[in-house]
Amino acid sequence: SEADNRLVAMHEFAADMYHHILLNTEEGQAALDYLENRGFSHEMIEKYRIGWSLPEWNYMSAALQRKGFTEDELTSSGLAIAREQGDGYFDRFRGRIMFPIMNETGKAIAFSGRIMENTKQEAKYMNSPESPIFQKSQVLYNFHLARGSIRKNRSIVLFEGFMDVIAAGKAGVDNALATMGTSLTTQHIRVMKRFAQEVVICFDGDDAGWEAAKRAAIALNQEKFKVEVAVLPGKMDPDDYVRENGSEAFKEQIIGKPHAFIAFAMMHARRHKNFQYENDLLQYIQEVLQLLAGRSTPLERDLYIRQLADETGLSQEAILQHYRKLE
Ligand code: CTP
Ligand code: MN
Ligand code: MN
Ligand code: MN
Ligand code: MN
Repeated sequence: SEADNRLVAMHEFAADMYHHILLNTEEGQAALDYLENRGFSHEMIEKYRIGWSLPEWNYMSAALQRKGFTEDELTSSGLAIAREQGDGYFDRFRGRIMFPIMNETGKAIAFSGRIMENTKQEAKYMNSPESPIFQKSQVLYNFHLARGSIRKNRSIVLFEGFMDVIAAGKAGVDNALATMGTSLTTQHIRVMKRFAQEVVICFDGDDAGWEAAKRAAIALNQEKFKVEVAVLPGKMDPDDYVRENGSEAFKEQIIGKPHAFIAFAMMHARRHKNFQYENDLLQYIQEVLQLLAGRSTPLERDLYIRQLADETGLSQEAILQHYRKLE
């Protein structure tokens, strides 16, 4: 609609202005240094249209009003917030590194802004709220740039954060997507399904990342994707790994060596378990068999039941008997 077009135009204007401030002004210099320290080249800053929002209260709101956007448009875009007392507006994003989120045609429809110094008082990322042009449950970061590569390979690499997508892009992994700070929804999966049959999940190596990867893997498996999971050492995330070990290692050792869905789920079930304790051991077997029931082929069932027997020292017959009860 025409109203939506105007909201998109506001985001395009803001993205260009944030980008200009980052690259061409003294006020943007500290942010530019921060990005450089994190391994961002000028080319990457251009490609992802990264910017800087000034710490002033209403720099962007005033600029948008001068462009003729109304007060209603200011607030419904999410770029400005109405003051609780008195008149006027203040900018949602102040003093943050700005990452525009683009729609399928490459137009900016939302932002995520990162503070430079991690503090306990302020959230690391501030995101645009939902708006008529931005539904978090549908938007996948980098979709407009990744679409060609995804269609060609019929394959997607899914990351937890857009910083990881950008790091992957630097390493030449072009079919990279991320959700915008939400878990994977059925709408996301529907969008992915239009272009690909295969997903490699590559989430952070911390506990939260493992849990989110398990949930995403199950959801994608249910929608008949071939699912694999690339696992990072320790608590690293993909961006950490690329910076520490380089692009080649990331492509060959991590993205190039993903685990099959069930193998990953077994690794997940083994985490934080100690097989000296029989409760842990029995729970492990139970978790794995539950996973196999209903979604494994006879060959997979054979393979993984043999592996379970090896790992636990129990007989394949006993494990198979237990499995039959779950089927
Ligand atoms: N996220 C968010 N708000 C936060 C923290 C995280 O919306 N306060 C979302 C963001 O979309 C982010 C994703 O969750 O991209 C992953 O979070 P995290 O792993 O903490 O961020 P990183 O991508 O590792 O960011 P950085 O490397 O800058 O710390
Ligand atoms: Mn530019
Ligand atoms: Mn994380
Ligand atoms: Mn992370
Ligand atoms: Mn990170």
